[in-house]
Amino acid sequence: MEKMRLDKFLTSQNICSRKEAGILARKGEITVNGVICKNADIKIDAETAEVAVKGKSVFYKKYIYIMLNKPEGVVSAREDGACPTVVDILPDEYKRMSIAPAGRLDKNTTGLLIITDDGDFTHRMLSPKSGVYKVYEAELDGDITETDVKTFKNGIKTQTAEFLPAELWLPDADNKKVARVRICEGKFHQVKRMFAFCGKEVLKLRRFSIGSLHIDEKLAPGECRLLSAEETDLVFLDNLHKNA
Ligand code: URA
Repeated sequence: MEKMRLDKFLTSQNICSRKEAGILARKGEITVNGVICKNADIKIDAETAEVAVKGKSVFYKKYIYIMLNKPEGVVSAREDGACPTVVDILPDEYKRMSIAPAGRLDKNTTGLLIITDDGDFTHRMLSPKSGVYKVYEAELDGDITETDVKTFKNGIKTQTAEFLPAELWLPDADNKKVARVRICEGKFHQVKRMFAFCGKEVLKLRRFSIGSLHIDEKLAPGECRLLSAEETDLVFLDNLHKNA
């Protein structure tokens, strides 16, 4: 049972502010289990109470998990003084107080990004101990060679960083400028730096899976949707390489 103040409950579900909850309650516009509740500081069982505001039921979700097809030009942060963020572009109903991107994609990287208010989920997903693999598709300024594949496979050590062994393959053997990379780390500009080590520049980068969760191809860039519980579990299931 999760006891919570009614005003906090409504704020947590992004229905209204705490102050507005008090006003709505006093106006008789909130019901709890079918009974008008004039006091927003009563405690309710968040999991089981049937709460309605202005006759509309509130479907409680402790946490939300959003899949965003990140477009270019937005930054993976909650707020940014200069650029639009991945949170700015969400529909208002998803903009809960503590949502944040689970990990980062560069401003010009596109594709699968999860945004959630479940900090434990984010921590688990990003922890190297969880070994969650991500697959990226990169468009390069030169042809991928067998040597590049081997370099990735052996792991890369530069003067400033070390990258664990990674898989690199061509999804289409006839196009050697488009490659897929499967890595389980998330170091700053990692994929770009790995290709730079091989003397190649990444012209476009798109992430299309995390664990066994794939980007929903029905989402246009900038579009998002909620993930089901089954889908969030897929993040922690291994994505076995080439069927990714
Ligand atoms: N690697 C990069 O270089 N950029 C990203 O956005 C993600 C992985």
